[in-house]
Amino acid sequence: LAVLLLWGLLGYVAGSVPFGLVVTRAMGLVDPRSIGSGNIGATNVLRTGSKSAGALTLILDAVKGALAVLAARLAAGEDAAQVAGLLAFVGHCYPAWLRFRGGKGVATFLGVLLALIWPVGLLTCATWIAGVALTRVSSVGALAAAASSTIWMVFLGRGDVLLIGIAMTLLLYWRHRQNLARLRAGTEPRLGRKP
Ligand code: G3P
Repeated sequence: LAVLLLWGLLGYVAGSVPFGLVVTRAMGLVDPRSIGSGNIGATNVLRTGSKSAGALTLILDAVKGALAVLAARLAAGEDAAQVAGLLAFVGHCYPAWLRFRGGKGVATFLGVLLALIWPVGLLTCATWIAGVALTRVSSVGALAAAASSTIWMVFLGRGDVLLIGIAMTLLLYWRHRQNLARLRAGTEPRLGRKP
């Protein structure tokens, strides 16, 4: 149990690094919390006008989740990998250093899934890309992808990761509750436009 707690803590610390803020600060861009949706994720970093900053945020927020899983697996096995992945996701959404006001978890969710169980990760990424491409609304792609991950797990017979997958999906939906309200009201912006 001590080992799982340790990897949970390390996962949380890795996940709580807010790359959206790191990248925008390093590139001298506006603080994403002051524009658009106010979120620190890649979609809102894109609204600073810099595609490379958006892409970099997406990649780094995914990599931190993947690294947490891979490091824990290497050092302590599959259970530790799951705990580290889940806590990295939680750390991204609720970082202690930002008074627990973090992101919505999409990039970290994808990174954790890819490292934890890559076939599900790839199918979920494909769903996300298709969802965003078809609707041009980032949150729709993210919400569709998260829901689809459960289906892919069942489809591929991976009951072992179902619980953590559903936990992350529920938290991701909770973090998107403003987006869900805007979608219902028909005011959710398309990519590249300000909400
Ligand atoms: O990655 C979060 C995305 O699904 C929505 O972002 O800034 O439009 O709320 P945003």
